[in-house]
Amino acid sequence: MCGIVGYVGQQEAKDLLLEGLKKLEYRGYDSAGIAILNGDIHLFKSPGNIASLESTLPSTIEGKCGIAHTRWATHGAPNQTNAHPHVSNSGNMTMVHNGIIENYQELKKELRDKGYSFKSDTYSEVLLNLIEFEYNQNGQDAADAIRKATSRVKGTYAIGLLIKGESDKIYAIRCGSPLIIAKAQEGFYMASDLNAFSTTTDEVFFPEDHDLIILNAQEGIRTINEKGNEIRMISETFQAATNSTGKNGFEDYMLKEIFEQEETVPLAMVYSGKNNKIQFPHITAIEEQLKSINRIIIIGCGTSWHAGLIGNYLFEKYARIPSTTEYASEFRYRQPVIGKGDLVIALSQSGETADTLAATRLAKRAGATTLVICNVPRSTLTRETDAHILLNAGPEIGVASTKAFTSQVAILTQLAFYISDLRNIEHPEISGILKNLAGLSIFINKILGKKNQIKELAEKYSFAQNFLFIGRGINYPTALEGALKLKEISYIHAEGYPGAEMKHGPIALIDSNFPTVAIATDEENRLKMISNIHEIQARGGNVIVLIRQGDDKLASMADDYIEIPATNDEAMPILSIIPLQMFSYYMAKFKGCNVDQPRNLAKSVTVE
Ligand code: M6R
Repeated sequence: MCGIVGYVGQQEAKDLLLEGLKKLEYRGYDSAGIAILNGDIHLFKSPGNIASLESTLPSTIEGKCGIAHTRWATHGAPNQTNAHPHVSNSGNMTMVHNGIIENYQELKKELRDKGYSFKSDTYSEVLLNLIEFEYNQNGQDAADAIRKATSRVKGTYAIGLLIKGESDKIYAIRCGSPLIIAKAQEGFYMASDLNAFSTTTDEVFFPEDHDLIILNAQEGIRTINEKGNEIRMISETFQAATNSTGKNGFEDYMLKEIFEQEETVPLAMVYSGKNNKIQFPHITAIEEQLKSINRIIIIGCGTSWHAGLIGNYLFEKYARIPSTTEYASEFRYRQPVIGKGDLVIALSQSGETADTLAATRLAKRAGATTLVICNVPRSTLTRETDAHILLNAGPEIGVASTKAFTSQVAILTQLAFYISDLRNIEHPEISGILKNLAGLSIFINKILGKKNQIKELAEKYSFAQNFLFIGRGINYPTALEGALKLKEISYIHAEGYPGAEMKHGPIALIDSNFPTVAIATDEENRLKMISNIHEIQARGGNVIVLIRQGDDKLASMADDYIEIPATNDEAMPILSIIPLQMFSYYMAKFKGCNVDQPRNLAKSVTVE
């Protein structure tokens, strides 16, 4: 988590850094800060989001070199003192950090014994002072000091550091946390992701772990590798995102992104109706392996994990390959039995989630074939896996994942069909399902048109403190995702359950104040869902039912219902989640919550 950005060049740094910070705000927004070097270090920090920081800044702060940070607190409360940049004991160095220092306590003690003191509760300040200590020990050779200090760190870091008197230089280094360097017309940047760079950027560089970077306004980029040798990083061309990152007239990014699904689901379709073929552009490298893999393991977190669960149904039903979906955070620590013959699919909107990244690296080391389904081109996961599939959904800014989920499901469905075809498995129904998927935007449009009905429903149920979401089969993950959406943006407690599991515990919670959302849009499980709905109503619970259009029986049973256009069961998770996203959105609005920046969350979880 946390966004870091640094700039050195010919222009005043303040506005460029603020611009970069705003684009990184999705990484955390509980405090922010900026340091400008201009002979002296000028430091400004503020609790709250970037707008709070901006309001405290003087209109001009002269200086063409600076670093900035937007924080998601991992250690130490989100307040002004713990906000970055931190300043070293002598006041001569300032640093921003993204990552986690695990052995900070022993390093802090060692520094305290040497007379160092600490203002904040952060481990970042410990690392900074360790660098300063090494700097003073080693004849003030900054590069050497940074390499020595970071070699003692256990954990992850990407840092940007400024030294008083070196007004045209930024030092940067990474290990485990993302760091990208850019060359733009106005100078050089470092940042935790590509979004932060200006539109004049023409080259970007991706340093390896432990590469030390020195950005100098006059001399350009110097890179010193772990062994101490000067190297040249290979550059890649940069294209600023063409997709609009504004709100396009919507009140919030989340609402905009919900509505965008009418276009983003078709953009995830690699199936062409013309030749009736599915063609993934970036997976030829693993096509042979796909023919013979004997197991699929999907890894992800949060919403991506839910999409993965839908993948299991599809891979097993259509490709006849055993498939499981695992929390990346659990998978990586339980010594999983994997190797050649396994396909590990990392699902990640951002491509930067720390646990998903670590689990994928583990799988790759163990010899598994790795594939990522991701929304961010050139993210760490797309760069490190054997093959990748892009969602093409455009930037997802709202913390609650919406359009990424529906695109992930569209991709997984096509991938299951593609592997089924590679293995010559006969499923004559596939081409009909694909044609329906390709035309889904008409149905999505119809669902989006129910905005007012869903808003009224949210108002009606805004009294509730708890919700149960149930579904079966391919719609069980939809129930999990519906519950996650509600809790993360409206802070209402919600549980997702398979319909049948309800009787094994959760039904005890049901009363007239504990409504249930039942997803009964798939034909396969309709009758069983009807039984579950009866069971809840018999105990005084209200049920909002998602039904297939024209299902009069379910409509007459439901306390409230939302109709979903009738199509194949395989498309139902995509269609059914959209009204649930809208329902959560309006519930949160009725409660006055900030839907784009819910409390305690960050868009991208880049620490474990
Ligand atoms: O970028 P990723 O897909 O790897 O992110 C995974 C989760 O952090 C993410 O889905 C999170 O659960 C969202 N806040 C859900 O809306």
